[in-house]
Amino acid sequence: MPNNWTPAEIPDQRGRTAVVTGANSGIGFFAARELARSGARVVLAVRNPEKGAEAALAIQEAVPNGEIEVGSLDLASLASVRGFADWFAREHEALDLLINNAGVMAAQPRQVTSDGFELQFGTNHLGHFALTGLLLDRMAGRDGARVVTVSSGAHRMGRINFDDLEGQRSYGRWRAYGQSKLANLLFAFELDRRLREAGSTIHSLAAHPGYAATNLQFAAAPRLDRMVMAVGNRIMAQSAEMGALPLLYAATYPGLEGGTYVGPDSFFEQRGHPRPVGSTSAARNEDLARRLWAVSEELTSVHFRIPGRAPA
Ligand SMILES: NC(=O)c1ccc[n+]([C@@H]2O[C@H](COP(=O)([O-])OP(=O)(O)OC[C@H]3O[C@@H](n4cnc5c(N)ncnc54)[C@H](OP(=O)(O)O)[C@@H]3O)[C@@H](O)[C@H]2O)c1
Repeated sequence: MPNNWTPAEIPDQRGRTAVVTGANSGIGFFAARELARSGARVVLAVRNPEKGAEAALAIQEAVPNGEIEVGSLDLASLASVRGFADWFAREHEALDLLINNAGVMAAQPRQVTSDGFELQFGTNHLGHFALTGLLLDRMAGRDGARVVTVSSGAHRMGRINFDDLEGQRSYGRWRAYGQSKLANLLFAFELDRRLREAGSTIHSLAAHPGYAATNLQFAAAPRLDRMVMAVGNRIMAQSAEMGALPLLYAATYPGLEGGTYVGPDSFFEQRGHPRPVGSTSAARNEDLARRLWAVSEELTSVHFRIPGRAPA
């Protein structure tokens, strides 16, 4: 594995299509920009069309030949997720890279999505679960097709509380975030197992950015958290541009196996260049993953059809 990998090493992505959720800011923006620079047609899947248009313009300025499109996606609404998938299927024949990146952290007070799910579990996990299930058909048979789901070091404090998944009886903002990020990893690894079992050409991987200075720390957290994190961002965090590298590496590094989890290589995975990293045993627990999958199918009413081998 190379040290100090940079996006300059991304193989030519011309002829390939990528969807990046939450691409209007933070690490999603830089991941989208570098995929566009390497020749991919990139769909910025965002909930705010104005922010999407601004991001598209900024990418276009950096990559004048880039093919960039904006698609409307609110992961906190299953109707919107379905609407995006329908639109994508109408407009695009195939999908090569799906980067499940958008996220919200430590919301206080407890909030719910338009379907009534706790905001972090609903957005970070269930929204991406549904989106992937609805887009997977478009990835069938594509060479090197990859789904990359963005988790976090916070998965280490996560526990899937099946008795109170939505934090209705007891809500803790960090507990809910940790649960959602563990769910991201359980989903990414279980999806890859199912794809392998079906003999699919698609691979599912995961990535985390370490600690990157983005809007995440300010979007939903309470005021005191925001003040502490503003200081942390200034003295400890790496740039959002560096934080995007693990996503890009997971999406494009040749020969990476499905089920690989990529993060930064320095200072307890908080900063640096990308490399495969470890996760907790809970994240690799297959019984837990199967149970979460079944619950997620039930909650979203999205039932995966895993594309298998192309007929000979
Ligand atoms: N930054 C870090 O240190 C860090 C560490 C570990 C993991 N992560 C993960 O990295 C990912 C990206 O976060 P970031 O740090 O780049 O933060 P960010 O700058 O706040 O980006 C988050 C993106 O998600 C979008 N988003 C939030 N809710 C959404 C929804 N309901 N539907 C569609 N899009 C939605 C936001 O859109 P709006 O602009 O409209 O709000 C924004 O584009 C997240 O999954 C996060 O958990 C980040």
